[in-house]
Amino acid sequence: MSIATEPRLVQKLEGSPWEIEGYLKVGGYEAWKRCVDGMKADDVVAELKKAGLRGRGGAGFPTGVKWDKVLNHRIKEHYFVCNAGEHEPGTFKDRFLLKTLPHQLIEGCLIAAHTVQAKAAFIYVNHEYEEERENLKKALAEARTRGLVGKNVLGKGFDIELQVFEGHGSYVAGEETAMLESMQGRPAMPRQKPPFYPTDFGLYGKPTLVNNVETLCNIPRILYKGAAWFTQVGTEKCPGTMMFSLSGSVNRPGVYEMPMGVTIRELIEKCGGGVKGGRQIKAVFPGGPAFSMVTADQLDLQMDFDSLKKAGTGLGSAGTIVIDDATCMVAATLKYSNFFKGESCGQCPPCRMGTNNLATLMAKIEEGQGTQKDMDSLLQLCGFVKGTGYCTLVTGAAVLVQSSVKLFQKEYEEHLRLQRCPFTPAAVEV
Ligand code: NAI
Repeated sequence: MSIATEPRLVQKLEGSPWEIEGYLKVGGYEAWKRCVDGMKADDVVAELKKAGLRGRGGAGFPTGVKWDKVLNHRIKEHYFVCNAGEHEPGTFKDRFLLKTLPHQLIEGCLIAAHTVQAKAAFIYVNHEYEEERENLKKALAEARTRGLVGKNVLGKGFDIELQVFEGHGSYVAGEETAMLESMQGRPAMPRQKPPFYPTDFGLYGKPTLVNNVETLCNIPRILYKGAAWFTQVGTEKCPGTMMFSLSGSVNRPGVYEMPMGVTIRELIEKCGGGVKGGRQIKAVFPGGPAFSMVTADQLDLQMDFDSLKKAGTGLGSAGTIVIDDATCMVAATLKYSNFFKGESCGQCPPCRMGTNNLATLMAKIEEGQGTQKDMDSLLQLCGFVKGTGYCTLVTGAAVLVQSSVKLFQKEYEEHLRLQRCPFTPAAVEV
């Protein structure tokens, strides 16, 4: 693995992000022009497979395999949806990309929709991302005036449209099957998956390609620069870079592009400028609160889908949250338990009741009214609900609590013994 110091996905553009001139100057829309000029869909897919690009929405599924499934599906009516329904706590990288590189996203979407021969193509944007949606619309209008989108693309005799869809504002609505449901006017609730992957049963029940914003922003770069260029950085199984959303107790929170496989320590020190106030690290959520935390002795772990999975946690959408030693872990855990409780769509009973009961027990312990029986119930409940929902929400809620209790058992015991939170109120901030 090599470490790139220069960003590779994010390019510095002249002018406002939606102005097309700046993007054209860095080779923008060249890959799209190649597709329009007749690059074969199978060759596009082959290049993505060669690049080893994996989905940046959180699960790391091989992008080329997904495109192949839709392109070569026995049912010939296909759809394409870009999922910009980002809502993971601590993840804000898609927002950054929407704001700064709307043309790169549009180019990725055009290539995707054209390659899988989509009948209609959409960009589903979280309804809270108002400014980003406006940027995107302005960029689309500029691309249209250049003949890159719309009727008779670049005079080649075919049409392509991209519609910006204002999404639902909930966490679950960003789960791809819930998103597809809501796009058809139904409640944003996930479908059982497997067997209903969107590649087989998507929008209007037809094969649908769904990709995340960051995944799609990688596409024009891979086709323009080649798979060999893409694999120059990252690890063998997770090539390329990742957009890390770094937050919590660091001096410089923000979105940073780093090679896959960067260590947690490098991310915090080089990008985040170290821990706030020179304090010590107590815990890090490498991939957001739905994956296990790691502790200060694990900072040399590499951040990529496989290394973190092997270490018992996950990269997810790389929402990295740093927690310092002044923080009460019971309070920090309660904060996210409340998030999961509030975001459960209520469709699956174990999730509806489980997230609610987990948050109630956590609150009781944090408020100093917990007993050993509550601790036992907490862990038992985690075991019951894990893996039971149609989506991963309830599993995330359980993993959060299990990991917190396992790593910080003493803090829980202190809450029971003292019958109050041993930390000052300011210590709940993470
Ligand atoms: P998943 O593993 O079920 O699927 C990942 C992707 O691969 C999906 O697009 C799915 O359709 C596709 N896929 C998987 N197996 C397939 C197969 N056999 N055939 C065809 N397609 C297949 O994961 P899921 O539930 O879509 O996502 C979970 C991840 O999402 C979590 O790891 C979490 O980190 C992340 N997440 C991200 C959020 C964000 O705001 N970016 C919010 C919430 C969760």
